Amino acid sequence: MNELDSVRPIRWSREGLFLLDQRLLPGRCVELQCTSAADVATAIRDMVVRGAPAIGIAAAFGVVLAVRSRYRENPDNWRNSIAVDVELLAASRPTAVNLFWALKRMAALTVTEGEDPVPRFEAEAKAIHNEDIAANHRMGELGAALISEPCNMLTHCNAGALATGGYGTALGVIRSAFATGKLQQIYADETRPWLQGARLTAWELAEDGIPTRLIADGAAAYLMQCGMIRWVVVGSDRIAANGDVANKIGTYGLAVNAHHHGVGFMVVAPTSTIDMSIVSGAEIPIEERTTDELLNFQGVSIAPKEGTAWNPVFDVTPAALVDVLVTERGVVHTPDREKLSNLMAHTR
Ligand code: MRU
Repeated sequence: MNELDSVRPIRWSREGLFLLDQRLLPGRCVELQCTSAADVATAIRDMVVRGAPAIGIAAAFGVVLAVRSRYRENPDNWRNSIAVDVELLAASRPTAVNLFWALKRMAALTVTEGEDPVPRFEAEAKAIHNEDIAANHRMGELGAALISEPCNMLTHCNAGALATGGYGTALGVIRSAFATGKLQQIYADETRPWLQGARLTAWELAEDGIPTRLIADGAAAYLMQCGMIRWVVVGSDRIAANGDVANKIGTYGLAVNAHHHGVGFMVVAPTSTIDMSIVSGAEIPIEERTTDELLNFQGVSIAPKEGTAWNPVFDVTPAALVDVLVTERGVVHTPDREKLSNLMAHTR
């Protein structure tokens, strides 16, 4: 790990899965221990761990915990009994396809009759984790290479080390751009209502000494109008076969504004985020979370008690607004169905 990559949200050990509790950041750095698949499902649902790739990695280790306990209970029937655990993990959050990708990859593992399955599952979950970090470094290099001269950029939500195995997708590009002298200043949207930008992005970039300026979400269009940024760089939770991109609510507005102001719009996501089974973004399930996240802040009511609210937490940016998609397999300019199909032609 170099000094631009100091944050790790997921740690596996013999005692179980340890997740940096992202609900408590930036005030407190506390790990939460998960010893069962149910613990992991709850941690994903409650946002202890969040961000598409990190959710997938945590779920993979959740399957390891399920296999470990079901095999102990009944070595002859563990395969059938883990189905309920996998279902529980799959029901934790709906939008990030990395969750379902990782569960499918784990469920596809075969072991020989009579063999202890735990080491095999453990090795696969570790591989998913390590491959994600490697993919992020690769995307960091590829994305930074697209930036021609030192400039300011804007990011939304947290697509950083905290949202992945490490290094980050969008923030991986930002880390690599900073390391190669291409980043002057990163602006981070605070990302209402959960404040991933303020609490997580600003914190993890500060940990690595990357110059970061926080803005209110509503300031982003003005930032572009003032000519203060060259690129918007974001991650994704699911990309449809035609290149439509689901990401944190507010991303679509940024893309529209970037288009209007001639600012580049870059999406950085591993191929585990691309869902070729859906034709367009219209098919992506958009999670709606409790309205408490909008009506209250840290337990204090910030709207009329009788107030109502609507809290969709993702939106879909049409492919036509994406200038470039950076994946670990390469860069796709103006993504569309044909280009994504070529990119994914050799999917494992
Ligand atoms: O609700 P969250 O915090 O899980 O949403 C996370 C995002 O929207 C990220 O931008 C996305 O998962 C990409 S993470 C590399």
